[in-house]
Amino acid sequence: MKITVLNGSPKGELSGTLKYIECLKIMHPEHDYEIFHVAQKIKSIVSQEGKYREILAAVKESEAVIISFPLYYLLVHSGLKQFFEFVFECNDEHVFAGKYAAAISTSIHFYDNTAHTYVEGVCEDMGMQFVEGFSPGMQDFIKPEGRKQFVFFAEKFLTVVSQKRRISRKTNPVQYKQTVYTPKTIKSKENQSGRKVLVVADRLDENSNLLKMVQQFQSCFREEIEIAELSKMKINGSCLGCLKCGWDNTCAYAGKDDYIDFFRNKWMAADIIVVAGTVKDRFLSWEWKRFMDRNFWRTHSPAFRGQQIGMIISGPLSQLENIKTVFQGYFEVGLANMTGCVTDESGDSITIDQELSNLAGDLIHAAVAGYKKARTFLGVAGLKIFRDDIYSDLKAVFRADYKYYKKNRLFDFPQRKWSARILGSVFYTVMKISPLRKKLFGMIPKGMVMQHDVILKKLREKKEKQRVTQPLALQDAKV
Ligand SMILES: Cc1cc2nc3c(=O)[nH]c(=O)nc-3n(C[C@H](O)[C@H](O)[C@H](O)COP(=O)(O)O)c2cc1C
Repeated sequence: MKITVLNGSPKGELSGTLKYIECLKIMHPEHDYEIFHVAQKIKSIVSQEGKYREILAAVKESEAVIISFPLYYLLVHSGLKQFFEFVFECNDEHVFAGKYAAAISTSIHFYDNTAHTYVEGVCEDMGMQFVEGFSPGMQDFIKPEGRKQFVFFAEKFLTVVSQKRRISRKTNPVQYKQTVYTPKTIKSKENQSGRKVLVVADRLDENSNLLKMVQQFQSCFREEIEIAELSKMKINGSCLGCLKCGWDNTCAYAGKDDYIDFFRNKWMAADIIVVAGTVKDRFLSWEWKRFMDRNFWRTHSPAFRGQQIGMIISGPLSQLENIKTVFQGYFEVGLANMTGCVTDESGDSITIDQELSNLAGDLIHAAVAGYKKARTFLGVAGLKIFRDDIYSDLKAVFRADYKYYKKNRLFDFPQRKWSARILGSVFYTVMKISPLRKKLFGMIPKGMVMQHDVILKKLREKKEKQRVTQPLALQDAKV
């Protein structure tokens, strides 16, 4: 059986994920494997017809394709993303159609689910029969159990391919026909109250809906807002995965292109950031992904400082929940506040105008109030993964993170919550006594909201004292 491996690690041969493929080659030498370092060599693949054709020729002869990739910012490295986009642009999906596919990634399990959802969807959009994904932790390979589980996964995949089993599609195809957006004049304008607004777009092509939406959004403000276009910035390449930044946040590209200056002086300095982009395959463009990957110079320290975030998206976002999850996770873990998102999906220009105007207002009001929406599982759980890994395994390489987390009290382990632990232990012991346990369980539901009721009583009293019909102001909620 011929198997083509598409390596999505920018480290090429040095990819840790690729060790699984080497293991597979040792275990099953009867098959013929061909590996292409697509993420590392992406510049030459998209610019040299021959290199790209070589990959296509290998895929054509293969029964199976394995996507081997490291997690990069909740998805795949921008190089692999660009490769997928290039295949669609060249209308070469037919070469992949019908082939069996599997995905193997390594990571610290930070949003490995969204990355696998993406890869699975793209493989199926190319017409491949996607069998399964396997997502071990970075160090699982060195444990016998980790290798054992991989071998089971791999052998199952080989069996499926050799038996030519039929695999039904597990993701819905995206069906979308874009309608032209025609903006009307905006009359009321938002006062920015001194807040800096930055719109970052991948590319604003002439006559595109995205350009028109960004321009309309711009016209919702009284003062100037800044618009940056990634395609016009000097960005020499994507993250190399060299990890040199781990020591003191010095990126290998520092001083060589515009990225770090832009990030420090524009991105971090803005009060409101608007991510503007067009849906490409099942995410935004590879240019947006490259921008995200290059964030890694800050390693695992938050990329925001409480900014309000808006999104202006052209394309079928509502069919691609995964994109929303990726960005919400990215913003929540980065300590920013996701305020709202406008797309052109409705096809109704008046509605889009209204939504853009509302977004402008909502962003300003949230920035002025310093609104921080309660984080969901995406941010809470994500930060716990970072906290644990930076405290232990990643400490030596990511010294800058360790210092940041220590200084900003992000090592908030439950072990350190002494009063909660003592109280918990006392109750734990008391609960062992059967009659007391019965009594306490009867009291628990009321006890759980006891403090809440006290606060609500105080709020009611406060409101009564005011004897006014207006609602209480936001700060009055602090009793
Ligand atoms: C820029 C960058 C971004 C990363 N993003 C993630 C991530 O979102 N989630 C995760 O679990 N691991 C993430 N990682 C960790 C890598 O996925 C992990 O180290 C992987 O094992 C590297 O595999 P490779 O050696 O095959 O490149 C990231 C690493 C880098 C350098």
